[in-house]
Amino acid sequence: MPRLVPPVIPPGRMRGGPQPVLPAPDGLSLRPWLSSDAATVVTAYRDPAIQLWHRRQLLTEAEARELIAAWNRLWQAETGAAWAVVRGDQGEPLGRVSLRDVDLDTGQAEVGYWVLPAARGGGIAVSAVTGLSRWALGDLGLHRLELMHSVANLASCRVAARAGFRLEGVMVSALLHADGWHDMHLHARTQGE
Ligand SMILES: CC(C)(COP(=O)(O)OP(=O)(O)OC[C@H]1O[C@@H](n2cnc3c(N)ncnc32)[C@H](O)[C@@H]1OP(=O)(O)O)[C@@H](O)C(=O)NCCC(=O)NCCS
Repeated sequence: MPRLVPPVIPPGRMRGGPQPVLPAPDGLSLRPWLSSDAATVVTAYRDPAIQLWHRRQLLTEAEARELIAAWNRLWQAETGAAWAVVRGDQGEPLGRVSLRDVDLDTGQAEVGYWVLPAARGGGIAVSAVTGLSRWALGDLGLHRLELMHSVANLASCRVAARAGFRLEGVMVSALLHADGWHDMHLHARTQGE
């Protein structure tokens, strides 16, 4: 059946090269995850807030290495990508920022993030989401980024607003968490905003 609208981004733009290191404000960089980051990932998923909002627990470094390998396969599949947030351009991860549900055809993706408890409160999440969004809506060429969080996650709502994601509405009873169904805020930012 003939298409009336071309893909927003042609297939291959992501997997055609390596996953890049991205600059972020305040001297931060976003780099691909390394298998040697496994201990940090285990520490992150021991945090009750990360467990609650990301609906996952990790018990061992072996599980963390599998998770990191799965994150790194997303780039080749062009369905997502995950970066470690670091100071300078290498170093120990302070947090994670990611794209999920990347659809190059429609030019859309969803942004996700967490910051290690010891690194919170210093603007890392806002800088990381800002750096990722600039690249995703700029060089990569996505048209629209969505960001969703439980209405009970006030910190995440502040991150979204400060990174330029306008609140578009409430999705009622939209995602099952360990403590039940949560209403979710839908935020979004589009190319050129
Ligand atoms: C949400 C999270 C990523 C914020 O990371 P961070 O680096 O500490 O955030 P920042 O320092 O960039 O702060 C962003 C804003 O959140 C606010 N904030 C931080 N903790 C807060 C809290 N518990 N309640 C309300 N606001 C909070 C900050 O005051 C700041 O807003 P302001 O500039 O208007 O004062 C971090 O708390 C986290 O990883 N939480 C657990 C996982 C999670 O919630 N992930 C997102 C799922 S959608």
